[in-house]
Amino acid sequence: MSIKEPNLNVITLDRTATHRAAVLLGRGMADNPVHVAVYRGGDEHRARCHARLTRTLLTTSALDIEGVEQAGELIGVAASAAPGRCQPYPPARLRLLATASTLGVPILSRLLEWNRTWARHDPTEPHVHLGPVSVDRHLRGRGIGSLLLLRHVARLDAIGAVGYLETDRPEAVGFYNRFDYAVIGEADVLGVPTWFMRRPAG
Ligand SMILES: CC(C)(COP(=O)(O)OP(=O)(O)OC[C@H]1O[C@@H](n2cnc3c(N)ncnc32)[C@H](O)[C@@H]1OP(=O)(O)O)[C@@H](O)C(=O)NCCC(=O)NCCS
Repeated sequence: MSIKEPNLNVITLDRTATHRAAVLLGRGMADNPVHVAVYRGGDEHRARCHARLTRTLLTTSALDIEGVEQAGELIGVAASAAPGRCQPYPPARLRLLATASTLGVPILSRLLEWNRTWARHDPTEPHVHLGPVSVDRHLRGRGIGSLLLLRHVARLDAIGAVGYLETDRPEAVGFYNRFDYAVIGEADVLGVPTWFMRRPAG
């Protein structure tokens, strides 16, 4: 896929940039099927809830976060966890639980079910866990996600690592197939189908 946007700048995001990344990820994923099932309500409500939770995730967990900027604006983000780091450590889990509980008990219990279902499928073999990944809605299909993925899989190949991710979007399965991820499992989250994908060590 060729890049159809000019003047893109790839940056590494540190903790001081987590607010920007969380806002983009909240907005970018607000219409993902599991997010609709978990947060319910309107698009802005879901974007706000997810941004709040994601800010805590990005601040407390040791994720590597790469972003794409255009004219100083963040338009794409891909975060990943190094082998052994895909489940947050206990202090980070507590912070995430505290943030999730500010969203109300019904959302909290749906978030816990989502997390339990996906965590149960985490491979036991060492892997680099990709996600969350999002490109701003009005710029999708223009090669920005591919740019982030190409860089990600180049890093996997450089260290000979297995890649892994989850997705709740059928069209994203085809997108990740292009980067040699293959579906290895499926599970419903709150009645929504989701897919687990693995990329062999290159
Ligand atoms: C999945 C996503 C990161 C891909 O980024 P992108 O910049 O749109 O991807 P690219 O332009 O490099 O590649 C486009 C391909 O991605 C796939 N794709 C997946 N979702 C898409 C979407 N909403 N719009 C356009 N293409 C999408 C298509 O296969 C498309 O191929 P095509 O152009 O031949 O039809 C982006 O669409 C997105 O943010 N989606 C919502 C959040 C999400 O679901 N993230 C992944 C969950 S793990």
